[in-house]
Order: sequence, then C-alpha cells, then structure tokens
Amino acid sequence: MTVETNISARNIAVVSGGAGGIGRAVVLRLRKDGFFPVILDVDEAAGHEFTATLKQQGSDSVFFTLNAAKKPEVQKVFGKVISDYGRVDVLVNLAGGTFYKKPIQDFSPAEWQEVIDNNLKATFLCCQAVIAPMKTQKKGAIINTSSNYGVTGSAERTAYSAAKAAIIGFSKSLSAELAPFGIRVNAIAPGRTATQRVISHHSPEAWAVAGQDIPMGRVAEPEEIAEGIAFLAGDDAGYITGQTLHVNGGMVMP
Ligand SMILES: NC(=O)c1ccc[n+]([C@@H]2O[C@H](COP(=O)([O-])OP(=O)(O)OC[C@H]3O[C@@H](n4cnc5c(N)ncnc54)[C@H](O)[C@@H]3O)[C@@H](O)[C@H]2O)c1
Repeated sequence: MTVETNISARNIAVVSGGAGGIGRAVVLRLRKDGFFPVILDVDEAAGHEFTATLKQQGSDSVFFTLNAAKKPEVQKVFGKVISDYGRVDVLVNLAGGTFYKKPIQDFSPAEWQEVIDNNLKATFLCCQAVIAPMKTQKKGAIINTSSNYGVTGSAERTAYSAAKAAIIGFSKSLSAELAPFGIRVNAIAPGRTATQRVISHHSPEAWAVAGQDIPMGRVAEPEEIAEGIAFLAGDDAGYITGQTLHVNGGMVMP
C-alpha cells in the first residue's frame, strides 16, 4: 500500500485525544477531507497502534505522546508540530473524559483537579498553543469538546459537568477574542457515544438498554460525532463561531 505524501500541500489537523474512540473517528473523517492528521494522546501504546493501522491502510499521520494538561509538554510538542509543518489549520480538543462517578463528599481535591485539568486545562493549553500560527494564517478552526452533561449536569459527575460547562463558556469567549483574526472557535457536545471507554463502564445488561431514554432510541456511534466536528472544521461552517453543536439523538434540546 502506498502511503500518501506531499504533506506541505495539505492542511494540518491536530487532534488531542486522537487515539481514543471519538478521536480515531475524527482522524479518519478529517483524512477524507484531505487533512494531514497530527495525533496527540497521553496513551502512547494506543497512539502508536493507531498510526501503524493508518499506515497499513495507506494513510500517513504523525503521533506525539502528550499529556495535554502539562504546559511544558504542550509547548514542546506544538513547537515541534509548528516547526515541522509550518501551520495548524484545525485543532480538535478531545482529550478528557473521566472515570469518576461519586458523591460530592467523596471527591478529593486531587481527583477534582485531575478532571478539571484533563478536560478544561488541556483545552485551554492546546488552544493557547495554536493561536500564533492561526493568527499568521489569518484562518483557523478550533473545536472543543463539551458534553450533554455540561448543559444538563449529572448526579455524581460534578467535576466532569463543571469542566464540560466551562468548555462552552471558554469557547464562546475565545471565539469573540479570535473572530477578528479569522479564527473560528466552536464546541461539540456529544451525547452518550459507543466508545470502548464508555462501554467498559456499563454491564452488558446496562449497555443493552443504554439508548432507551434517548428520543432516537440508540446511543451515538463515534463516526456521528466526527461528522459534526468535520462540519465545524470545514469551510462550509465559515460563518459559524461561538456555537455549541449538540449531537445527541434528541437527548438534550438546549
Ligand atoms: N463517549 C461519550 O459518550 C462522550 C460523551 C460526551 C462527551 N465525550 C467527550 O468526548 C471526548 C472523547 O471521548 P471518548 O469517549 O472518545 O473517550 P476515550 O477515552 O476513548 O478518548 C479520550 C482520549 O483522550 C486521551 N486523554 C485523556 N486525558 C488526556 C490528556 N491529559 N492528554 C492527552 N490525552 C488525554 C485518552 O488517552 C484517550 O485516548 C472526551 O473529552 C469526552 O469527555 C464523550
């Protein structure tokens, strides 16, 4: 299989959390739109396995191990990306999620901070790292990941809901700040989505009925979230900024 080359002629899409469930679907979808994918993830093994799979399929990509909540790592990796490729056209911030579901009195400050950092701080740091090249280009699209829980809240998910609500406010503010430079900033708010991480936190019995409370009667596939992100990333969304796109089968209608 021949691997696609001539990266300089292609737009660069950086996907944080790109080795995860939705992240992989986003990389595959943006590749269809001609982007060269730069995959960032704290899970080194998953990142290498994914890029090897892409290569077998004839698609080039690059992977960097990165804890997106650590500023020195973010500066180093984005510095390398910008010096290697000269531009960043799209940034998709998917790094995040949480395994914590517990009553407020059981949350330690360290656990609270971990959730805020992996979701909100990581989003802030990666956005900060692409502003300079996007301003130079006078163009760019940033998509940050919220959640239906960022709008509705969810019992025992206080830290996660707070972080995901904050990502909406952050994205609105950043969109206003960057609109004069031709940079668009939007958020995507997925509903329940069939990624391994989510499935593994349900019993088979619970997962079998996980779509029953959703008006469309089923959970989302990662590819359906990726469609929303690809739309926000592309020129068809050229006049859309500061918005939150809800992809949730009618579960939440804010
Ligand atoms: N799956 C759902 O039902 C759902 C619903 C709403 C929102 N979301 C959000 O969508 C995003 C992706 O979720 P997913 O279901 O694909 O989860 P996932 O766990 O499959 O993917 C998340 C990826 O982010 C990486 N990651 C986590 N913290 C990181 C950090 N600090 N630095 C770099 N990488 C980090 C993980 O290693 C993982 O590969 C998350 O932000 C999640 O909160 C998911």
